[in-house]
Amino acid sequence: MTRKLWGGRFSEKTNRSVEAFTSSIDFDKNLYFYDIQGSVAHCKMLARAGIITEEEASTLVAGLSRVRRNIERGSYRFDDSLEDIHMHVETWLLQDVGKVAHKLHTARSRNDQVALDIRMYLRHETLHIIELLILLRQALLELAQKHIDVVFPGYTHLQRAQPVLFSHHLMAYFEMFTRDTNRFWDGFNRTNVMPLGSAALAGTTYPIDRHYTAELLNFPEVSSNSIDSVSDRDFVIEFLSAASICMVHFSRISEEMVLWSSSEFRFIELSDAFTTGSSIMPQKKNPDVAELVRGKTGRVFGNLVAMLTVMKSLPLAYNRDMQEDKEPLFDAVKTVTACADIYAGMLPNIKINKEVMEKATMEGFLNATDLADYLVTKGVAFREAHAVVGKAVQYALGLKKELHELSLLELKSFSSLISEDIFSFLTVEKMVDRRKSYGGTSKKMVVDAIETGKARLEKEMQKHNDLISIEV
Ligand code: ARG
Repeated sequence: MTRKLWGGRFSEKTNRSVEAFTSSIDFDKNLYFYDIQGSVAHCKMLARAGIITEEEASTLVAGLSRVRRNIERGSYRFDDSLEDIHMHVETWLLQDVGKVAHKLHTARSRNDQVALDIRMYLRHETLHIIELLILLRQALLELAQKHIDVVFPGYTHLQRAQPVLFSHHLMAYFEMFTRDTNRFWDGFNRTNVMPLGSAALAGTTYPIDRHYTAELLNFPEVSSNSIDSVSDRDFVIEFLSAASICMVHFSRISEEMVLWSSSEFRFIELSDAFTTGSSIMPQKKNPDVAELVRGKTGRVFGNLVAMLTVMKSLPLAYNRDMQEDKEPLFDAVKTVTACADIYAGMLPNIKINKEVMEKATMEGFLNATDLADYLVTKGVAFREAHAVVGKAVQYALGLKKELHELSLLELKSFSSLISEDIFSFLTVEKMVDRRKSYGGTSKKMVVDAIETGKARLEKEMQKHNDLISIEV
């Protein structure tokens, strides 16, 4: 067993089960890269502030990069008795450079160190998720553009309601994922704050330069209250809420994929590459990817609730409860990343059954509102028009016919204001195109929305690439 770095005041060995119970190395080893990067910056700052010598700093920095390489090569064994990644790195550094390693932990604590590591990890992962969401939204825009002339039934209560452009429906998802991207950007800004140097909770007696550490690690901001710095996990909760809302959207699009690809709808066909077969029923092509995305929503919500619960009522400042932040966070990052990635790949490969969609707009009285609107153009009040059309629908239902299948004479029996022009008024194309109100489904509106979306994505990609290039 390795001697504990905090073992000074203890005369008994830690109980084995306690070691296993308190250890976080199984999961926080994920943070090794950021832990070492943070330590390198800390060393350089300590030297510049005259707290350690330049020579000591370069020994430590060189040692830290050897430790990193050894971790990456798999040369080390992780050990519960060393608790967490911070202790592992320091112990390995001690083995590598000798006693000077003991100077690394001057003017900091694991409390501010772990806060730094998570923030560095999360800003990196958030940027990756933003990138994937940009690609996914690009795929939606391209699909919307490609099928701009396809009309399909818009639904309310999962009942056919009014004909809309299929692209308009796709663009609704574009809006949702745009809001998600914004939420991730927002959280990113609050994650991108440097906590190191807050030490255990009160700051430190050493003349450190926190702004220099921040500069070395590309943080635009330094946290301003040492107590808050070590006890704040708002940024984790914010990420998890953004992730949860994003998963709501993934679950909704997934549900539609499942419905649309069923024999009941037959609106789309998912490509072979994104579906799987059944081990018993040879005819099956199942939308498992969409189903799994839908199913994975639960774990992300669970992660959010877990984290809210961990933080609720915690007294200031750091408490060990907070070690429970990592598994939910890592799991949510992994899940959202995978869902965004898989959707960005799946969407461009969807086959659209234009004829089936269009046929569906012809059945189910999707033109009833338009017949009422027609009467309004002839001077009838909308509520009255609504009642007249209700009667006409009832009559047509009795004959198992649609409104546009009634003769002019039949229609006139409900209102003498209806004339021959009603038939061209009620075509699906006209119905869609009349909805020119801002944000409506007319072709012009949808084409404009696609163009605006494209310009927007270009700007976002630029912002993302600028941040990546400064190695956040
Ligand atoms: N493993 C701990 C965590 O993840 C690191 C901080 C521990 N600090 C302490 N004083 N025990 O939160």
